[in-house]
Amino acid sequence: MKFVRFIMQNAALASVPKHIEHFSKFSPSPLSMKQFLDFGSTNACEKTSFVFLRQELPVRLSNIMKEINLLPDRLLTTPSVQTVHGWYVQSLMEILEFLDKSPTDHRVLGEFVETLVNIRNRHNDVVPTMAQGVIEYKEAFGQDPLTNQNIQYFLDRFYTSRISIRMLINQHTLIFDGATNPVHPNTIGSIDPHCQVVEVVKDAYESAKMLCDQYYLSSPELVLRGHNINNMNLPISIVYVPSHLYHMLFELFKNAMRATIESHNEGSNLPPIEVMVAIGGEDLSIKMSDRGGGVPFRKMENLFSYMYSTAPTPQIGQQITPLAGFGYGLPITRLYARYFQGDLQLYSMEGYGTDAVIHLKALSTDSVERLPVYNKTALRNYKVSQGADDWCVPSREPLDLAVFRLAK
Ligand SMILES: Nc1ncnc2c1ncn2[C@@H]1O[C@H](COP(=O)(O)OP(=O)(O)OP(=O)(O)O)[C@@H](O)[C@H]1O
Ligand SMILES: [Mg+2]
Repeated sequence: MKFVRFIMQNAALASVPKHIEHFSKFSPSPLSMKQFLDFGSTNACEKTSFVFLRQELPVRLSNIMKEINLLPDRLLTTPSVQTVHGWYVQSLMEILEFLDKSPTDHRVLGEFVETLVNIRNRHNDVVPTMAQGVIEYKEAFGQDPLTNQNIQYFLDRFYTSRISIRMLINQHTLIFDGATNPVHPNTIGSIDPHCQVVEVVKDAYESAKMLCDQYYLSSPELVLRGHNINNMNLPISIVYVPSHLYHMLFELFKNAMRATIESHNEGSNLPPIEVMVAIGGEDLSIKMSDRGGGVPFRKMENLFSYMYSTAPTPQIGQQITPLAGFGYGLPITRLYARYFQGDLQLYSMEGYGTDAVIHLKALSTDSVERLPVYNKTALRNYKVSQGADDWCVPSREPLDLAVFRLAK
């Protein structure tokens, strides 16, 4: 029996490249907030969701698996990246088993939910494991601009794809497991149709403050203001995924707190972190301002780089400083913001402090998934070779003008 299972597993494994080839020819279908809500509304249909996901999940997985294979060999072959790749192959195979199963069979639908939960758990550690791969690469081969650029391009797309796959899995499993969310009974899956932004800011601040107090024994205060152009008396609310918003704000608070504390002497009065939440006709913006000394302009671009962090490199499963880790806080926060067509901007004044602004769409009709697609343009981005710089590089030595003086 074991032998038969072994043979069958190997046969399935052998057919994986063929399936990836097939499904990567389809473009992922971005869903709007409204479509997500419809899947979970009163007339939610588990069968429809099942039939959609057994096609869409392989499409999203295969699109990004094509790109994993385009990574530089020296990164692709690190044990960490191989582990992650193995998880993707395994998960793809598990979903493909549902392709020929009947959507009207209740047992099948139940098994599908179980499989999705397993997949979600299997992929829990993808971010730190990938980060470990990048560290292994960096330690063995150092950094060069082309690989940096490749890794940046890839990881932005890879993590966005992961966020989107988890979103699909969460929606299906939360909506169709038959239970209501005891803490938030009005959410539809992970989406809150009336997400109270100011409340999420407070929650994220409290969690970051707890870490900060534990580690530094003090923390800056929060000064929070809101501005609702539509009705000053109404709380600011949008249709959004509260856990995404919380995650972004928590990351920004940790950074702001760390900067504030490390740039002030022990015992001196800490300047507060000021947060302004504003909603207009189109945008919901959240500005977080700290007086943590800022970042030199030259380094701003590096803050979003997966290869750069001023924090000591932690090992998986062991966090040394609770307020800083892999240096992925900002890049991943920006991906969450961009996932529903928003963005994250950072403005810093060295010597003073930093403003971080999250822009989100105020209208649910504008909140549509932003997804990577594997195509010729993507392929070209992995193949470009770095040419010579087309801007002059100033010489370190001052120019010796005597050379140009005409001989008298
Ligand atoms: N508000 C800020 N003020 C000053 N420097 C900042 C601020 N936010 C970020 N930085 C700098 O940018 C770097 C990158 O931030 P990021 O949040 O991406 O990573 P990290 O905080 O080092 O680690 P992680 O967030 O993964 O735990 C930080 O190490 C810090 O040097
Ligand atoms: Mg951080």
